[in-house]
Amino acid sequence: MRFIKACFRPSLTSRLWKKPVLQPGILCHSSSVRETYLKSAINRRPIVSMPDVGNVLTNALTVNTRPNTCKYHKHQVDDCQQERDVVSVKPMPDHIVIKVRNGEEIKTSGMWLRDHCRCDLCYSESRNQSLYDPGSISSKPTIVELIHNENEICVEWDDGHRSAYETTWIMNCLLNKRPRYPNKQLWNVEKIKSANISMISYKDYMNETDALAECLRNLYTYGLAFVDDVPVNRETLIEISERISFLRECEHGKDDIFVSTSQTMYKDIAFTNQDLGFHADSAYNAEPPGYLVFHMTERSGEGGHSRYVDGYYVAESIRQHRPDAYGMLSQVLVEQELKDKGVHYVGKYPVFTVIDDEVKILRYQPTDRRFIPHLSLEQTELFYDSLRVFYQKIYSPENEYWLKLQPGRVLLLDNYRLLHGRSKFTGSRVLRNTVLPRDEVDSRIRVLTGLG
Ligand SMILES: [Fe+2]
Ligand SMILES: [Zn+2]
Repeated sequence: MRFIKACFRPSLTSRLWKKPVLQPGILCHSSSVRETYLKSAINRRPIVSMPDVGNVLTNALTVNTRPNTCKYHKHQVDDCQQERDVVSVKPMPDHIVIKVRNGEEIKTSGMWLRDHCRCDLCYSESRNQSLYDPGSISSKPTIVELIHNENEICVEWDDGHRSAYETTWIMNCLLNKRPRYPNKQLWNVEKIKSANISMISYKDYMNETDALAECLRNLYTYGLAFVDDVPVNRETLIEISERISFLRECEHGKDDIFVSTSQTMYKDIAFTNQDLGFHADSAYNAEPPGYLVFHMTERSGEGGHSRYVDGYYVAESIRQHRPDAYGMLSQVLVEQELKDKGVHYVGKYPVFTVIDDEVKILRYQPTDRRFIPHLSLEQTELFYDSLRVFYQKIYSPENEYWLKLQPGRVLLLDNYRLLHGRSKFTGSRVLRNTVLPRDEVDSRIRVLTGLG
């Protein structure tokens, strides 16, 4: 988000505010100098006294470049600029009417605009926090004066407060121009094979921040990442996992161990040697495991290959071709349950948890479904048809990606995005996995790669 502070010093005359000029104590937003102080919307300092003004100007002029990504829209600023098609901006008492080039008129709320002011009275840049609660504003703010000046909209409110915004930022908010799944590559088999995801060596991963960042970039982009040349033992899997975040306890301890039937203590099919269909882990949890880390530490016999599918890709395809099915899968709450030694989980969630117009969590675990609410006859039929559409997509040879996990190669997997499973097998197969909490990993991805 990029807001511009023009001349907010209360004692400045209205005339100066309208026609700012570059002189000591006054920031100008109508000349090329404007570019130099556009370091970001939230980077403006308050102009409260003349000495401060000097500092503001000095700071502003040391900024060399515009931010290269739009904070709120997660795409390049240049893309934002291409959306700029404002013809006129008309102030009304409590809202503004923006006329765009195609003749459309868009209304935006004065309260919304006021709430997104990023002057230093409203927002602390150093703390990265808002300084007031919008609910505390008792009445609708009224616009006293509004200036649409090329790329900016400057507003003076009835309480004397002044705000300035970039037109492109406002337009992108109004047009909701946020791309779906920004910087993620949704994939089918052909795409994931041609992506040639890099293998990060265990040594580099453990010692080099760049290698760890590359691994996390792969995880964010494709929903999976690999670490290679890993010593085959339990400790290294935990080491690899803890390099990213603390571990979330599994149902059976710090890590889960999936072994052949003869050794298993648990009822869950995952702990047998039977075919295991596509699923996301722990779909009954309010916060399912965010990321899974797998290491096949022992393998002999036939079968037991692992299958993966990009749930976001499948969901997006359904959204485009069967919006009715997409709607059902994102609205109907499926009751899911797990009852095993000492645990009893129950949760009601849709298959697609959609937030901000994109799927955030896939909850699909057919073995654990208990109850589908009875809807109208028509809706019930549509829901089962939607499940059928989903099933056909995930098991389609174009989307189902088979991998042979092997000792020495660790796989990191996004459990909110990818579904996984395996074919039945003979012989011995020991697969270990740990669980990483979602927020911690996402935070690490943001810090090390800037993604997300
Ligand atoms: Fe699983
Ligand atoms: Zn403000």
